[in-house]
Amino acid sequence: MGETEAVARAPSSARDEPLPGGPWLIRDALASGATALGAAGCDTPRLDAELLLGEALGVSRKTLVLDAATTLDADGAARFRVLLGRRAAREPVASVLGRKGFRHITLAVDRRVLIPRPETELLVEVGLGLPTGARVVDVGTGSGAIALALKQERPDLIITGTDCSAGALAVARANALSLDLEVRFVKADLLDGGEYQSVLANLPYVANGERLHLAPEISRYEPSCALFGGLDGLDLVRRLLASDLGGALLVALEVGFDQAGPVSELLGERGFATLERWRDLAGHERVLVGRR
Ligand SMILES: C[S@@+](CC[C@H](N)C(=O)[O-])C[C@H]1O[C@@H](n2cnc3c(N)ncnc32)[C@H](O)[C@@H]1O
Repeated sequence: MGETEAVARAPSSARDEPLPGGPWLIRDALASGATALGAAGCDTPRLDAELLLGEALGVSRKTLVLDAATTLDADGAARFRVLLGRRAAREPVASVLGRKGFRHITLAVDRRVLIPRPETELLVEVGLGLPTGARVVDVGTGSGAIALALKQERPDLIITGTDCSAGALAVARANALSLDLEVRFVKADLLDGGEYQSVLANLPYVANGERLHLAPEISRYEPSCALFGGLDGLDLVRRLLASDLGGALLVALEVGFDQAGPVSELLGERGFATLERWRDLAGHERVLVGRR
């Protein structure tokens, strides 16, 4: 099979679809890639194809537009084909690219961590309001997203990230190193026994029964220990709130779209009576902030 023909064949489920032969222009590669990803069930096939082709060629999406009539070189075309195949198997774009933007930083991500979600940026915004020099813990830090983004915007805060997963902690530490941010990452079951004024946490909150309803990007590629929180999804949140929180004056928790009610009750029972509810872009109460 010739190089161009090899590239022009779509991956996985779209494999039998006829695609144009070569030589491939950038615009044709994008069109064929988007068709293949659409056939594989991806939500945003054109955008994904642009991101993957940009990655394969080492250029921006803007350049792809400007150079739409340029012929793809064989190496770039081969790289695109590999990336396209992974995405067509429903691997998340961020995991294929190996990075994800989160607030003002870019984090390395892989299959050891949850890919940081836009709504989690709300927890960083809560952190921006903390007093100067406050000691903060990010419980279940994963890639280090909350801890590192907060440190980047508030260097005065003293921040620790905990996780029970050695793999996640390795990712978080590597991110801290490459971003040159001073955050301590500790292996712990929830809290590490340190004294913190503020506790931020995006713990697993998906109910076990939801497993079958998750998109393949999540169920196949993200770690179960980052997703599931028992029968109603709240096992970890309950356990955190039942644990020794020391002198913490603030607890901020990300919750599922329908969990704000039960979690605000749990916060109230634990003495965090003053409650704020922060909504995500879809209008769901996504972050609860309890103060005492
Ligand atoms: C939903 S992910 C959040 C990751 C990251 N904070 C973010 O927002 O992108 C939950 C994280 O909690 C961790 N985790 C689960 N159970 C834990 C426990 N008992 N103690 C500490 N971390 C835990 C998982 O390994 C995972 O990294």
